[in-house]
Amino acid sequence: MSNPPSPDRILIFDTTLRDGEQSPGATLNVEEKLVIAKQLARLGVDIIEAGFPFASPGDFEAVQKIAREVGTENGPTICGLARATKGDIERAGEAIKPAAKGRIHTFLATSDIHMQYKLRKSRAEVLAIAPEMVAYAKTFTDDVEFSPEDAGRSDPEFLYQVLEAAIAAGATTVNIPDTVGYLTPTEFGDLIRGIKANVPNIDQAVISVHGHNDLGLAVANFLEAVKAGARQLECTINGIGERAGNAALEELVMAMHVRRAFYNPFLGRPPESEEPLTNIDTRQIYKTSRLVSNLTGMFVQPNKAIVGANAFAHESGIHQDGVLKNKLTYEIMDAQSIGLTDNQIVLGKHSGRNAFRTRLQELGYELDDQALNRAFLRFKELADKKKEITDWDIESIVNDETQQALEHFHLDLVQVSCGDSAKPTATVTLRTPDGQELMDAAIGTGPVDAVYRAINRVVDIPNQLIEFSVQSVTEGIDALGEVTIRIRHEDRVFSGHAANTDIVVASAHAYLHALNRLYTALQTGQAIHPQRETVTASL
Ligand code: KIV
Ligand code: ZN
Repeated sequence: MSNPPSPDRILIFDTTLRDGEQSPGATLNVEEKLVIAKQLARLGVDIIEAGFPFASPGDFEAVQKIAREVGTENGPTICGLARATKGDIERAGEAIKPAAKGRIHTFLATSDIHMQYKLRKSRAEVLAIAPEMVAYAKTFTDDVEFSPEDAGRSDPEFLYQVLEAAIAAGATTVNIPDTVGYLTPTEFGDLIRGIKANVPNIDQAVISVHGHNDLGLAVANFLEAVKAGARQLECTINGIGERAGNAALEELVMAMHVRRAFYNPFLGRPPESEEPLTNIDTRQIYKTSRLVSNLTGMFVQPNKAIVGANAFAHESGIHQDGVLKNKLTYEIMDAQSIGLTDNQIVLGKHSGRNAFRTRLQELGYELDDQALNRAFLRFKELADKKKEITDWDIESIVNDETQQALEHFHLDLVQVSCGDSAKPTATVTLRTPDGQELMDAAIGTGPVDAVYRAINRVVDIPNQLIEFSVQSVTEGIDALGEVTIRIRHEDRVFSGHAANTDIVVASAHAYLHALNRLYTALQTGQAIHPQRETVTASL
């Protein structure tokens, strides 16, 4: 069953696993995508765009697995992206088949610049292909979304014709992308109003919006689109995505939550209505943000709205004084509303396996026995070094374990000697799945450099370190340090992430994590990019 043409709330279409994953270095493996999809379901998104199944066998498998395991009767709709070609649509149709509610999202550019230089097709050809491919997608599922790519720079009169034809062919959602992040809020609102006024059958489809943040306007544009009648928002966690990213889910949801009295009338509700505007469980936002950041290696800037480390921190003396007297002086929302609970001390050295498992379940993690054992061992190691273990520490350990599970090179040992009058020297031992031990040592400019040089001597894959950052999970000298790195190999970027109380050890794990991803990519070949590699149905 597809969504009704005009839902009485705003549908949240999450594209973290598709457009978000198109960010350089954010590549995820099948298991990581599944973990994120499960969390997106807990967050309450209506639709998960799980990937572009034609891109590679791995992308197909991920969409199919998510369709099977997350696309349950009461779960979200699972969507697969397809260019306007039969081959793509067939792959998408096949991948979403196991879902109780499956959607195909097919797209075709409608701006003159894209049609002329990218598609090399005339307006007449595009106007014929769009409905033909929508009709073809309908043979796989009732729920078909059509996007006129680069709608923001398309001639509105032509756009109206293409949308009308797509809806007549059965599109149940028409998505309006500002592909290059060019529009201003007023223009985007007017575009949606123009579509409502000029596409005769528009009442038979949900109007959706999609936008990139090149000018930092994506969220503002979407909120204007909501006022004009858009009822589906395509967004990503932490706003990750191509170039400057996509519209950030957490910002959209919290803007409509905190300012619901302002937005209610645009949905025909009285301003004072308390009924949520979206289906999102806002208390899952912080956790989802951390998970996506850890698994994609896309670091969240401290001043990022809603989920940045400083978003709820009141550093200035004047602010703190005001907040202590009355929170509302400087806070427009409660940290708890996004699930940012007080950093509670939950477990310690003497906590057993059951207490650990129970806390994990309370935090929403379901680990199989093997993963639980690994995480429990890490917890015990940490409890020996750190007196008080918080929820954030536990989340960090579990996120770390999720990625380390599928590694090719495993770090068995890292040993460093350094100091102000010593030459930083590192020894590493790695193990491969067939049990081979690889050991070497190197001297570097500092301990991390020495470790990376030693690893490079045994893993001979040329790469360049382009980003390195360390963050502490909690406060205190014994805190876990989280290291996030990005490396470049030829024209591709891979990220790595790891947590440890010893930041040199965390750095070694993070580097191996990135190298493992690079190694896998070299073995499986490069996935097809849906927007840069053009294939369309021919007439
Ligand atoms: O930005 C864009 O236009 C897209 C389409 C595939 C919807 O991501
Ligand atoms: Zn996009």
